[in-house]
Amino acid sequence: MRHFIDTNEFTKTELLTIINLSLLIKDCVKKGYYPPLMRRKTLGMIFQQSSTRTRVSFETAMEQLGGHAQYLGPGMIQLGGHETIGDTGKVLSRLVDVVMARVAEHQTVVDLAEVSTVPVINAMSDFNHPTQEIGDLCTIVENLPEGKRLEDVKVTFVGDATQVCASLGFITTKLGMNFVHYGPKGYQLNEEYQSVLAKNVQENGGSFLVTDDPKRALPGTDFVYTDVWYGLYESELSPEERNRIFMPKYQVNRELLEQCSLGVKFLHCLPATRGEEVTDEVLDSSISLAFDEAENRLTAMRGLLVYLTNYQKDSSEYEQLAAKEKLNSFLESLE
Ligand code: CP
Repeated sequence: MRHFIDTNEFTKTELLTIINLSLLIKDCVKKGYYPPLMRRKTLGMIFQQSSTRTRVSFETAMEQLGGHAQYLGPGMIQLGGHETIGDTGKVLSRLVDVVMARVAEHQTVVDLAEVSTVPVINAMSDFNHPTQEIGDLCTIVENLPEGKRLEDVKVTFVGDATQVCASLGFITTKLGMNFVHYGPKGYQLNEEYQSVLAKNVQENGGSFLVTDDPKRALPGTDFVYTDVWYGLYESELSPEERNRIFMPKYQVNRELLEQCSLGVKFLHCLPATRGEEVTDEVLDSSISLAFDEAENRLTAMRGLLVYLTNYQKDSSEYEQLAAKEKLNSFLESLE
């Protein structure tokens, strides 16, 4: 039984397996075959914050694969109120087959996983956003520059060191790719994150660079990625302060993209603040993959759910038959 809290807990081979499985199931669904791989299974979805893509993609994935999802939104369950995280994890393990949680504090999802006897999926915390990155890698695999392998690809994240930036760095370096965080000093991935990237590069090849120098960051970039400048968490920056720090140098616009590879593509996890971190012109352009990425959240959720529950085996046919006979004879005795 595995949890999915941080891609760094998975090997390169395991991550590639999840990505390939996700793309294979996507192909089946596109062709009209919905493999019933989550049949009779239930997903409990804990949300401490709002969500469009994550919530809808998990729920749709369960439905398409023959299962069911329960939305446990902010204030809807006892977690953080009358009940401890530990007790919530133990109870949900008895009631559902998989738990996913979008949490305010990373420790909450770690604590949930520690006590849960069913797989727990981190659907974003203040530390990382690993399910986003499975979908993003599906999108990159589908749009690899001609003649390049994943290991040849350079991905440059532009702007604030959000949890999406961190997760993108984690997964790309784990896969032996070349990752750059191009952001202003004070808003760059910190030493804790950089030490993880350094370890990944040492073990898997590839490279990483954190810089505020566009001449080092942008040339040769195959995929430019950005995210909002305020994250989803409490921000001490006013919109004016954000603009003073990031604008115009870190806005993804036509001028910035002209400094990258000729065939550069644009990525954004969404939601976007149009006119801030990205212009309308770029987000709506033919090189933008932002909406393919949103679709691939669903691709990734299907793959992840199947991968994590594939460890759960049903009882043998003999045991099922014996239980069924016992039930039937009890029901008959009622007549
Ligand atoms: N990218 C992302 O996680 O979107 P939601 O916040 O809408 O789930």
